[in-house]
Formats: sequence, structure tokens, C-alpha cells
Amino acid sequence: MKVLIVGSGGREHALAWKIAQSSRVKKIYCAPGNGGIAGIAECVDIPADDIRALADFAEKQKIDLTMVGPEVPLSLGIVDLFAEKGLTVFGPGKSASRLESSKVFSKTIMKKYGVPTADFWVFSDYLEALKFVREANRPLVIKADGLCAGKGVFVCSSLAAQEQAIQALLKDGVFGDAGRTIMIEEKLEGEEASIIVISDGEHIVDMASSQDHKRIFDADEGPNTGGMGAYSPAPVVTDELFEQIKREVIMPVIRGMRCEGTPYRGVLYAGIMMTSAGPKVLEFNVRFGDPETQAIIPRFNGDLVEVLLKTIDGKLDTVKVDWDNRACVCVVMSSSGYPGSYAGGKTINGLDALSSRKNVVVFHAGTRKNNRAIVTAGGRVLGVTGLGATIREAITTAYDAVEKISFEGMHFRKDIGRRALERIAL
Ligand code: AMP
Ligand code: GLY
Repeated sequence: MKVLIVGSGGREHALAWKIAQSSRVKKIYCAPGNGGIAGIAECVDIPADDIRALADFAEKQKIDLTMVGPEVPLSLGIVDLFAEKGLTVFGPGKSASRLESSKVFSKTIMKKYGVPTADFWVFSDYLEALKFVREANRPLVIKADGLCAGKGVFVCSSLAAQEQAIQALLKDGVFGDAGRTIMIEEKLEGEEASIIVISDGEHIVDMASSQDHKRIFDADEGPNTGGMGAYSPAPVVTDELFEQIKREVIMPVIRGMRCEGTPYRGVLYAGIMMTSAGPKVLEFNVRFGDPETQAIIPRFNGDLVEVLLKTIDGKLDTVKVDWDNRACVCVVMSSSGYPGSYAGGKTINGLDALSSRKNVVVFHAGTRKNNRAIVTAGGRVLGVTGLGATIREAITTAYDAVEKISFEGMHFRKDIGRRALERIAL
């Protein structure tokens, strides 16, 4: 089989790494890929959001299966376009992708099908939104309706911060059309976890639980990022809670999407807050998480390609997946300045020495090949991933590997997985 992977991050490297292990796969292309993916796939210089060029490429190369990593091509309708051309593609169509691309749509579905989530109010008028927060006078979360690359959510304790967020979105239009409608949500308290499943529209297969670290600095300080590290499994998600989340969150959404005439086929990622009143949904994503995937995929035993094909065929009930009992920890190494602006082109040292190390995989994100060297080319640069019999061992393995890597301006959190250790100690 010839497989095309769309995207260029650590998530896509982890997917390519697993897909390359399938005996069915003869050749992998990745568009646009990165310096690490280039070691296992042929990188093609087509941006992930140029869905027409991707479809032309897939047709010309007679690609047997396309796996879409990021949300933007899904929200643009890559799956509908490929299907029109008779190409086999994994992921939800444009309409079902609104679970992520429109927060208002997602909340509407949750409300209609009784999924627990924060209370919310929708506004597109600046003055009405201001009046609401002034009267509410309590911590709230302000969100742009549309896709903003993870930057459209403002968790605001003070009224001043709430007014500022509303002004940025509804008056100054900093996110353009994506922020012309906003959602104001009750602020939830608790620990977060990511629950990811794959659905064929009817049946589901569970992925292992995981937890991400969104803030740039240790102890969850500083601005939100795409994710600075992850671990799997997440001890906060006991087997009982996992079942409860499937019963109260995942299955009602899968059923609801079927009732709406847009059956959900693809990865469904629920960002969950474990509140004192039970698990509540923060958001849905219609794709694998990044960096959660880097912590989940090394624990996945089996043929991912088979799972993807069975999803497309609506036969997930015939698939059983098996998980490595070991824990996995991924530490993201980023460029200084990220999530703000940063410089690229810095040579990365120490990668070769790690390639033979057992229990370590270095997934590349913002890297590119420069002759024989690998240089930085993004905010999040590498996801250094370690497996261990316990989460403590996985943390040690990952950080031992991190120590071997260096590049100018590198930054990483030193406390990835610490929350899991604290929870185990409880
Ligand atoms: P989202 O993209 O909606 O998941 O939001 C990004 C991050 O903002 C989440 O991972 C949470 O840390 C935080 N967040 C979002 N909604 C809420 C909420 N209602 N209460 C508290 N924190 C939230
Ligand atoms: N790690 C969060 C996300 O993928 O959305």
C-alpha cells in the first residue's frame, strides 16, 4: 500500500512511525512533513491546507490510504473532496468536523444530547457581551467560535481580563471571522485529561488515556501553548471514569452525530475536566492530540493501518487493540520565544546517539534537514519520548535522552509527568 500522511508535527511523525511498522505498507508520503519524518517517508512540498493540491497528488500517485493529522484540512473538507474522487481517506467530513471548528456547534450538540459540559452563552454583539460579564461578575472563559490554532481561549478570573478578551475578539477582530461570534463559559475547576477514541460512525475503539501540559513553564505557569509534554496513561482516569466518560460523553455524541445525519468517522478527542460534579467536556477535537499522540502511539501494539481501514469500512467492531502496559512520557523541546516569535535554523546536536537507545523515540515537530544536519524550523521542535515500567521510570528515560540533545535557545519543562506521580502517591 501507498499511504499519504497530511501534516508536519510531532503527531504526524508518531503516526508515520507506527504506520511504517505495518507489513501492508510499501511506501509513505508526508505532506509537508519535517526533518524527522523525512527519515521514514518521502516528504512532499504541499501545505497541509492546500486540499486540492493534496487530492491531485493522491490521484496521481494512486495513494491507497490518506491519514489527515491536523484539524484545518479536515475543517476545509479534505475528506469530502477525496471521497468525491474515490480516494480512501481517514477522518471526519467537513460537516462532522464542526465538532472542533465551531465551538457553538459543538456545544449545541452537547446540549441536545445531554453531554455534561460548562454552561455557556453566545454573543456576537460587543456591548451585549460586555454587559453580560459586568453583571455576571465571576470567573469566566471567553472563547472564539472558530479555529484559532489553540489561541482563541481566554481563561479570565478578573473582569478587566474578560473585557480585554471581548474587545480583542468582537471589537478589534484579532482572529477575523473565527472570532466574530464568541462563547462565554462558566469556568470549571479540576484536573484535565484527554480521552481519545476512534469511531466508524457506530462502534468505537478506545485509545489509551493521556494528559497534556499546556502552559510553557513548570508548575503550569506562563501562556498556553500547543502542548509542552504528555504522558499516558493518565492515572486520574481510572477504568471506572473511562467507562463513565464513554457512557456519558463519547457514545451520546456518536449517536447524536448519526441522528444529525453526519455520522462521525475518525478520531474523536474529548478534552475533559474532572470536576467535583463529575467529568465535563472542555472541547472536542476531530483528530489526534499533539503531543498526546507521541505518548500514546508507542504504547499501541498492533497494526494502525488496519484500524484506519476498518474505520473507513464501518467495521470497527471486528477490531481489538492491545496496549503496552508500560507508561510513556513525551517531553517537548521548544525554541526560545515560543509560543511567541522565535528564530529557526539552529543546528540540533545529539540526535544520532539516541537512535539506538532502547525505550526512547525522538519525534520531530519543527525541524528540517539542512544537508546532513537537522535544524530547528518551528516553535515546538522535538518530542523526546521514553517508555518505562512505571511513570517514574518513563520520566527518567525521557529526561536522560533530553539531556543528550542541544540546540541554541532550547527550552523544555522539567516537570512533565509530575502530576501523575503526585496522583499515584495520593
Ligand atoms: P479548549 O481549546 O476549549 O480546550 O481550551 C483550552 C484550554 O483552556 C483548556 O485545555 C483548559 O485548560 C482551558 N479551558 C477551556 N474551557 C474552560 C472552562 N470552561 N473552564 C476552565 N478552563 C477552561
Ligand atoms: N494537545 C492539545 C491538542 O492537541 O489540541
